[in-house]
Amino acid sequence: MTGSKQMEPKLVPLFDKTEVAGAVQRLAGQLDHDYRNRSPVLVGVLKGSFIFLADLVRQMKTPLQSIEFLRISSYGASTVSSGEAKISLELPPSSILGLDVVVVEDIVDTGITTSAALSYLKGHRPASVSLCALLDKPSRRQVSVQVDYVGLTVPDRFIVGYGIDLDQKYRQLPAIYTLEE
Ligand code: IMP
Ligand code: MG
Repeated sequence: MTGSKQMEPKLVPLFDKTEVAGAVQRLAGQLDHDYRNRSPVLVGVLKGSFIFLADLVRQMKTPLQSIEFLRISSYGASTVSSGEAKISLELPPSSILGLDVVVVEDIVDTGITTSAALSYLKGHRPASVSLCALLDKPSRRQVSVQVDYVGLTVPDRFIVGYGIDLDQKYRQLPAIYTLEE
């Protein structure tokens, strides 16, 4: 081998499986409490929320109206936001009309993706919309968004694992890591 091989980024543990599971359980409890007399639609924002959503719904006791998905992304193959959000998969408008919606996000960073998701969903006239994010990275916020349910707050580092990727890699890791050079 020559010296041209790129250095693999270093994965530094941030939250282990137990800490993540504890946060998910707490969020499920809060949602169960707040939606105790309702039957919400959970809308996962693909792809990053798929593992979180799967674990969250299995901890919830509230009967759900349905589980839907929306694909909105602002990141390309880089670690900085491109500054614009694209909706690339829409849910059937009838699936949220007049219903209580909980948006399930992996991580809220600049807020651009999440605020685009919220405006898109509000345009379909749900009865209510709340936001549940596993991770909140408040230090980089550009657009203000109210995160009603926050799992864990993370520093201004690039995060991977538990559904969250760098260029489609590392999603399958069962815990949460920061990527360091
Ligand atoms: P925002 O629009 O900047 O808030 O970014 C939201 C989306 O960007 C998230 O749903 C993630 O898919 C992605 N993202 C933000 N921060 C990170 C990170 O630290 N690691 C990996 N993906 C991230
Ligand atoms: Mg993503």
